[in-house]
Amino acid sequence: LPVLLLWAIIGYGLGSVPFGLLLARAMNLGDLRQIGSGNIGATNVLRTGNKKAAALTLLLDGLKGAVAVLLARAFAGEDAAQIAALAAFIGHCFPVWLGFKGGKGVATFFGVILALCWPAGLLAAATWLILAFALRYSSAAALAAATLAPFFALFTGNGHTFVLLAVLAVLIWWRHSANVARLLAGTESKIGQK
Ligand code: G3P
Repeated sequence: LPVLLLWAIIGYGLGSVPFGLLLARAMNLGDLRQIGSGNIGATNVLRTGNKKAAALTLLLDGLKGAVAVLLARAFAGEDAAQIAALAAFIGHCFPVWLGFKGGKGVATFFGVILALCWPAGLLAAATWLILAFALRYSSAAALAAATLAPFFALFTGNGHTFVLLAVLAVLIWWRHSANVARLLAGTESKIGQK
């Protein structure tokens, strides 16, 4: 158990680095919490108009999740990898540095699923891409991808990640409650819209 606790702490630490907020600040794009949805993720960085910063946020918020999983797996095995995945996701959503007010976890979710079970990760990423292009709603694409992800894992021979991915999907729905309300009201902003 102390080993799993250690990987929970390392995962949380990695996940809690708010790359979007830091990049936006470093590139003089302003405080993300005062812009658009107020979220610290790549979708909201894009609302500053800076595509490079948005792409970099997506990459780094994803990488921190993938790195947490790969390190934990290399040093302590598959259970530690799953703990690190959950902890990194929670770190992103509830970072101690920002008074536990963090992001919605989508990029970090893609990082951890790609590292945990890449075939399911690729299917989830493809789901996001297709729906994001078709609907232009980042949130709706993410909700669909996260919901299908546990089933993608099941069908690609990674059933051992089903419960973890289902928990992440529930957390992603919870973190998107404001987005869901806006989608239902028809007021959600489309990708790239201010
Ligand atoms: O990754 C978060 C995305 O699904 C929604 O972001 O800024 O539109 O709330 P946002």
